[in-house]
Amino acid sequence: MAHYLITGATGGIGRMVCQRLSEHRLTLVARQPAPLTELAAGLPDALAFPADLSVEAGAEALQGCLAQRPPLDGVVHAIGSLLLKPAHRCSFDEWRAVMAANLDSAFLVLRLVTQAKMRGSLVLCSSVAARVGLNNHEAIAAAKAGIEGLVRAAAATYAAQGLRVNAIAPGLTDTPLTAAILGSQQLRAALVQQHPLGRIGRPDDQAAAICWLLGDESTWVTGQVLGVDGGFGTVRR
Ligand SMILES: NC(=O)c1ccc[n+]([C@@H]2O[C@H](COP(=O)([O-])OP(=O)(O)OC[C@H]3O[C@@H](n4cnc5c(N)ncnc54)[C@H](OP(=O)(O)O)[C@@H]3O)[C@@H](O)[C@H]2O)c1
Repeated sequence: MAHYLITGATGGIGRMVCQRLSEHRLTLVARQPAPLTELAAGLPDALAFPADLSVEAGAEALQGCLAQRPPLDGVVHAIGSLLLKPAHRCSFDEWRAVMAANLDSAFLVLRLVTQAKMRGSLVLCSSVAARVGLNNHEAIAAAKAGIEGLVRAAAATYAAQGLRVNAIAPGLTDTPLTAAILGSQQLRAALVQQHPLGRIGRPDDQAAAICWLLGDESTWVTGQVLGVDGGFGTVRR
């Protein structure tokens, strides 16, 4: 039985990852304790550890918890936030909040797994917005592009230690994060049209790619960002 850390476990994508890894020992993180505890209770061997991983104190508390658990075999970092605003309407606090939830949390998780000298696989979440210029995505695009840089540098630094570092770059996927956008049937239909494969992403599309990067079938893959976006990022029909 392997031991995996899943952050953002109660999110749309995180929950599907938990389901796919349910036969393993899991440590699950999100901020709100109630849904996290309920999720862990429904899994055979899962510990709920509520923490805010956008701040150093939260990551340090998690490090303390993990020191009491068996060594990790892999980590899925599926925390994120979404702010759709043009730069001229974005306050500095809003910009900082997007950086904290997305880029700072990714750095803090990378630091804790590397300080623990983890071998295995770390999977981060970028976004299609890191590579395609999408209007009103300045903050999130910058944060996710930062994650892609972090993936490549960390993959180089820690390859000799036996740690692989990769990311998925999801396109628009039906989760609580995008509920406000996809709640409008008219907008949803228009967005479906923009995707070459003709639908919006499902959380399990992302979980399947994450679990491939996490597992034994990708042991010669590191420093990569895998687009899981129905072709939106690279293909025109
Ligand atoms: N859905 C999409 O269309 C899409 C597109 C591109 C990229 N992504 C990326 O994919 C990843 C997963 O997204 P998702 O759609 O599954 O998001 P989601 O449904 O909103 O879930 C986010 C999860 O992260 C937790 N979380 C948020 N901030 C946190 C913090 N500071 N500390 C600890 N936990 C925190 C949330 O729980 P609490 O609120 O209880 O903390 C929740 O479990 C994110 O990195 C996102 O940016 C998603």
